[in-house]
Amino acid sequence: MKQVSVMESLSSPVTRICCIGAGYVGGPSSAVLALKCPDIMVTVVDSDPAKIDAWLSTTLPVYEPGLDAVVNQVRGRNLVFSQDVAGAIHDSQMIFISVNTPTKEFGLGEGRAADLTNLEIVARLIAKHAFGSKIVVEKSTVPVRSAQSISKILRENSNGFRHQVLSNPEFLSEGNAVRDLTNPDRVLIGGDEDSEEGRLAINALRDVYLRWVSPDKILTMSTWSSELSKLAANAFLAQRISSINAIGCICEETGAEVGQVAKAVGADSRLGPSFLQASLGFGGSCFQKDILSLVYLSESLGLNPIASYFSAILKMNDYTKSRFCQTIIESLFNTVRGKRIAILGFAFKANTGDTRCSPAIHVAKTLLSDGALLRIYDPKVSEAQMRRDLNHPSISQDNILFCDDEYEACRGTHAFVVCTEWPQFRMLDFHRIYRSMDKPAYVFDGRRILDIPSLTSIGFHCEAVGRRTTKIEHIM
Ligand code: NAD
Ligand code: UGA
Repeated sequence: MKQVSVMESLSSPVTRICCIGAGYVGGPSSAVLALKCPDIMVTVVDSDPAKIDAWLSTTLPVYEPGLDAVVNQVRGRNLVFSQDVAGAIHDSQMIFISVNTPTKEFGLGEGRAADLTNLEIVARLIAKHAFGSKIVVEKSTVPVRSAQSISKILRENSNGFRHQVLSNPEFLSEGNAVRDLTNPDRVLIGGDEDSEEGRLAINALRDVYLRWVSPDKILTMSTWSSELSKLAANAFLAQRISSINAIGCICEETGAEVGQVAKAVGADSRLGPSFLQASLGFGGSCFQKDILSLVYLSESLGLNPIASYFSAILKMNDYTKSRFCQTIIESLFNTVRGKRIAILGFAFKANTGDTRCSPAIHVAKTLLSDGALLRIYDPKVSEAQMRRDLNHPSISQDNILFCDDEYEACRGTHAFVVCTEWPQFRMLDFHRIYRSMDKPAYVFDGRRILDIPSLTSIGFHCEAVGRRTTKIEHIM
């Protein structure tokens, strides 16, 4: 076989890509890649055989609007799901790493630092099975300078294969993954801009994205800037939510209305209206973990004031979740023991079945530990998943009923609590629900999606984040 030089190899068109990690990022991003690049063979591998089986089935392991249609179009054409990690590494020119990087649960940096075990395992696998030259693309969210660690492992363990490591963080938001992947606000490519090989690798990845992303949206930069930009973007987004939730607390005490304040603030073109939706607190697998990672990084660099600054975003979020629970318990005459309460929505946001760090878990656990009897409904979260999330020695599973719809969940309850902003919750027959509930019947809207005046006219006692009514009644 003809030997090709590293330069030739890095400059040749990319026709074989593999992605290691078939989760919320790896699966959808590979499917869209295959859709947009019919001439590229995309292989997705995972160490979890059940995950691969699910991607090969009719029930995908990830619920995302529009994803089934994309997968059906490309699966078996130029998108392959496989358990053969070694083979996929061997056969690909470009390797995306999309493994999970959760917060460390023990050891140095416990509860704050990112656990990079999966990343390191994958780097060692690549070193073992790669040959020639490869472009390794770090898509997982990682602390600054992780690419350097990957590079070191590859350099010191490989049998002489050449590599370039690029940072290409993912910015998709769950529930909007297909839209975000097909029409991203920007694509970041971080690499070694100072070397010829680094520039060739950056261009090779840029050429892949240029099939469907306009050049002005593809930002190339140093590896470290790219890695830090991802953490910074998530911190900025989360900070806006914590800021509006902080304002929401002031609204609850004063009679101001947080939706009106958000509208006024967001009308400033320098700020914009996005991410100003007050809620019972943000959830999801990444905001908390990435801010903790930023906090740990700052502390490691001796930048304690910076660490405290970012920590405050999380403290505010914890306060928001606890305060919402306190509102529920106080409103229900300071006790929920033996009271039936419906939880509508368990996912961390609408249009996903993902419950990682969902604020609904906090609400459910708090109410259960205060003796409430819960009836839970979510259109996309399985009972098995909810049981896993609520599995705790202090919680009796007998106190939880998983329901098939909103009406069953609310029947015979003292209150219902909206934890996820599923659009269908806006359109319920609230007269029917009111009739089926114990009186006084309470509503706690943690997402501000309900028409409070109309519910009040039916007879409900209502509380919504950012416009607490009972407190105001007390003041008057
Ligand atoms: P996930 O848990 O859904 O998927 C990760 C997958 O990697 C799992 O299926 C796991 O089995 C697999 N894996 C772990 N170690 C492996 C190994 N050694 N070999 C092969 N497979 C392995 O996680 P996710 O939500 O897809 O997130 C992945 C990364 O992307 C994280 O760093 C996350 O911060 C980042 N990210 C996530 C989102 C999101 O919306 N979920 C968005 C942007 C960025
Ligand atoms: C977030 C970012 O938006 C993505 O850009 C990023 O790629 C991703 O994290 C990641 O790194 O994992 P995601 O967590 O999927 O995406 O969802 P968001 O839409 O950001 O919502 C996060 C949480 O904040 C949800 O619980 C949501 O309900 C809440 N939220 C969002 C609010 O409470 N108010 C808002 O105004 C917006």
